[in-house]
Amino acid sequence: MQVIHTVAELRQRLSKETRVAFVPTMGNLHEGHLDLVRIARQHAKCVVVSIFVNPLQFGVNEDFGKYPRTLHADCDQLAACGVEVVFAPSEAELYPQPQQVTVEPPPIAQELCGAFRPGHFRGVATVVLKLLNIVQPQVAVFGKKDYQQLHVVRQMAAQLNLALEIVGAETLRAADGLALSSRNQYLSAAERTEAVFMYQTLANIRQAIQGGAQDYALLEKDAAAALAARGWQVEYVAVRAQSTLALPAQGERALVILAAARLGVTRLIDNLEVCL
Ligand code: PAF
Repeated sequence: MQVIHTVAELRQRLSKETRVAFVPTMGNLHEGHLDLVRIARQHAKCVVVSIFVNPLQFGVNEDFGKYPRTLHADCDQLAACGVEVVFAPSEAELYPQPQQVTVEPPPIAQELCGAFRPGHFRGVATVVLKLLNIVQPQVAVFGKKDYQQLHVVRQMAAQLNLALEIVGAETLRAADGLALSSRNQYLSAAERTEAVFMYQTLANIRQAIQGGAQDYALLEKDAAAALAARGWQVEYVAVRAQSTLALPAQGERALVILAAARLGVTRLIDNLEVCL
């Protein structure tokens, strides 16, 4: 496995590849990321993984400074997974000048997580487009755990005519149901036990919808209240249409239930799809 830090060297290395599958990450890899790598492997012989903690997608009071940077451990895991190339640029390499040209994501990026993280999806879309232009893969794999991110990336790829396939990968969960996330390690032992309640809350809503409940606003309100009563600071619980993330139209059958809430200092997000 080659670990490459510059755009020029990466372009040189990939010039001889005819088909590349790409997994963009911010590092601190867990089994969920390795699953994305395995899915990428099904699409191309050459798998490239990027590791870059992107300052553009963090708000001023967010965890950019403390986001775990574990390049050596990450590379060990990726080598064991048979990855061909890791691209780990410095900030100066990816942003040699202030990034004044950015990708304006679609209006839905102002809702859900975007309402609480202004500018986040602009930062994500911009770095993803830069990475796609650098790596020029035929396939890029993103986790459904970041459902709104996947939607924004899909829209960007479609509306900007990017010549690649975007693959969405199912969320990997711990045995109790908690979605795997690099941020789970911020949780204290007691918070880790409590954290599964977000998944249970989403699962309860899914069960209610499958059982015929149609008042989604009431389900969202009750779920947010149940989380708040246990000490969560809830940002949103929302039932949306899978394809647009807009409020579901009457009779919409492909739904997704999304939530974001803080447990102590840790912000957790999760979602569950439900098809009627
Ligand atoms: O999902 C992530 O880890 C990041 O948002 C991404 C896609 C690597 C862009 O920085």
